This record gives sequence, structure tokens and C-alpha cells, in this order.
Amino acid sequence: MSVKVSDRSQVLAPFHVMEVMRAANAREAVGDAVYHMEVGQPDTSAPNGVLAAAETALRSHRLGYTEALGLPELRHAIAGHYKESYGQDVDPGRVIVTTGSSGAFVQSFLAAFDIGDRVALASPGYPCYRTILSALGIEAVLLETDIGDAFQPTTALLDRARAEGPLDGLIIASPANPTGSMLSDTALAELAAYCKTHSIRLISDEIYHGVTYTQKASTALTYNDEAIVINSFSKYFSMTGWRLGWMIAPEGLMQACERLGQNLFISPPTLSQVAAVAAFDCKEELALNVARYARNRAVLLDQLPAIGFERIAPADGAFYLYADVAGLTNDSQAFCQRMLAETGVAATPGIDFDSARGHHYLRFSFAGATETMVNAADALKQWIK
Ligand SMILES: Cc1ncc(COP(=O)(O)O)c(C=O)c1O
Repeated sequence: MSVKVSDRSQVLAPFHVMEVMRAANAREAVGDAVYHMEVGQPDTSAPNGVLAAAETALRSHRLGYTEALGLPELRHAIAGHYKESYGQDVDPGRVIVTTGSSGAFVQSFLAAFDIGDRVALASPGYPCYRTILSALGIEAVLLETDIGDAFQPTTALLDRARAEGPLDGLIIASPANPTGSMLSDTALAELAAYCKTHSIRLISDEIYHGVTYTQKASTALTYNDEAIVINSFSKYFSMTGWRLGWMIAPEGLMQACERLGQNLFISPPTLSQVAAVAAFDCKEELALNVARYARNRAVLLDQLPAIGFERIAPADGAFYLYADVAGLTNDSQAFCQRMLAETGVAATPGIDFDSARGHHYLRFSFAGATETMVNAADALKQWIK
């Protein structure tokens, strides 16, 4: 008799982009050019103020555990960020520092939902929402969004999902991954009100706030005081490997979140917390990153349609273009492999974000250098010609 592997771990789908990354690394190892557009992370380090604070902390701070809810100075700084960026008064007592937004998903899903609960989310979408939900025994109810609604959930899609069974939660992301699309303020307010009316817990992943091109992102806190708002130092603050995020939880969930934090993680990484206090004073430097993403986006939006990547989701924010490549392929994974082998351009197959329709979509990340975007567009132009 073999020793068991849990059923819950079997729901975890593989990341197909890993295959592309492996092939890209192999190509690079033999000296061939690779234009990395597969990975969704800034290629810059943390801002200088954070690096300096970390150096000082290494020498002067004991770096033991912090309180499970996070370092009080950081919780205050995060609350201050809501005043400065959104004009919102947030009680630092409702701020929970987490191990990346990924830690916040686990903590908040466990605090808000029980086994068998149903939580709606957009497809295409960030794959870890649904895999974390499924691993926790929570049903992920996929809302098939399309380009007409900017790939964002609508109340009509929610009505349809509720016709099949009650909904306990809704996860939204604006800007979203993989599309970069955003909800208008009206649409966000509408979804927030719908959740209130139908006692649905709204979870708003605001990780790409600060990286926007067409409108400033609004926080769901403005529209729903029972919402859980999740954010991170990974994207706008350019600190992916520091593994630090946060959430703003409603009063009624604070005790559950604190106890879960104590038991699951003890505390988020202390060095990262101490250093991150300085991140909110680095907005000038961070604005240069966003300006580079804006230039990269402009290069790709100018070049890609002429090459055949025509139907692109509205790239309002984040650093992604999600392109319908139905005219070029019906097998996005094989297409990505061939594109890498023949042009050096590494992109992510849509099946990582949408198992039903992703076979004719690709995601290009433009978080890298502008030169990479220009060279990648040239290489694709030669290839498709
Ligand atoms: C939409 C979205 N949410 C959350 C995450 C997880 O980020 P982290 O755990 O680094 O905060 C990512 C990472 O790519 C993402 O794209």
C-alpha cells in the first residue's frame, strides 16, 4: 500500500509558463538572445530608501519576530498611504501585514470562508486565486468575462452564477492580471453595492495600484466597508522577493485574521517590514519605474497590432498585454515554444489564466527594459512577415 498524497494538493494546476522559462534559460545558457516577456515582475531592485533602511536594520535591529499583525510603524505607514493616495482614513488597527499578497489570500480566505463555500472570480484571471481556494476546499466559481466587459466581472455574470447556487465571496482585481484591464469607478461601486445587497464578501486584490496609465485606481474600501482589501510591496514598490504584502480587514474579521496569522506564519519577515516603512517615501524613484512601463506599453501597443496581435485587452494598468492570437494559433503553449525558439521572445500562454479559452491567448509582460520591448517587437516583425 502506498503512502497517501492529499487529494487537495492534486487540484494545483501546473504553471505552463515554467516550460517557457526553462526553454528560455536553456537558450540563454548557449548564448542565444532571449527577450523576457514571460515573468510578471519588475526588473528593478527595491527603491534606494528601502535598501538603505535594510542595511541599517541588518546592523542595528535584532530582527526577531514581530507581532503577528505586523510592525506597528509599518501598519501606521500603510494606513497613512490610504490617506495620501485615496483620501481614506484607515485605522492602523485594521491593517494586517502579510507574507506577500499570497499570504493574505490564504489568511483572508480561511478567515472569511468555510469548506464548500462558493467564491466567484473572473476568468481569465490570476491562477493562484482559484488554486488556493480549491486547495482550501472552497469552490472557485469562474465568471467567463470577455473583451466587451474589459474582462471584468459584471452584475449580470454574478446573477448567472447565483442562479446556480449562493455566492459567499467575489474576488476582483483592478488592474487585473493577465489583462491589465480596470473597472471604472462606476463599475467598482456597482459590484461593491451588489456584494453588500447579497451578503457576498468582496475581496479586492489591489496589487497593481500605482501602475496605471488611463485612470487612477480607486480602492474598494471607498465603496464597501465589509470588503477585504489586499495589496503588496511586490509590484509598484518593486520588492517581489521581500515577500511582503498587507490587507485591510473589516473589524469583524480582525480576530480571526490575527489568530490565523499567529498560527500559520507567526509574523511576516521582519527585515522586510523594517525596510518597507521607507518605501512610502520613495515615490519619486518609483514614478520612474512607472514611466518606463508606460513607454514599454506605448512601444508594444504601437507595434504589436501590425504584427498580428490585434485583439488586445484594454491595458489600463499593470504591465501586461493580453492578446487574442486566434488568427495565429489554437495552441498557445506550442505557439509560445515556437515563438521562443524562432525569435527569442518569451511570453506566457493564455492557458495559465483561462483553461477554457486561453489556448488562443498570450500574455506579454512589459515590466522589463524598453530596449527589450523594441528588440522583441523587431524580432516578431521579422518572424510573422
Ligand atoms: C494579481 C496578482 N495578485 C497577487 C500576486 C502575488 O504577489 P505577491 O505574493 O508577490 O504579493 C500576483 C503575482 O504575480 C498577481 O499578479
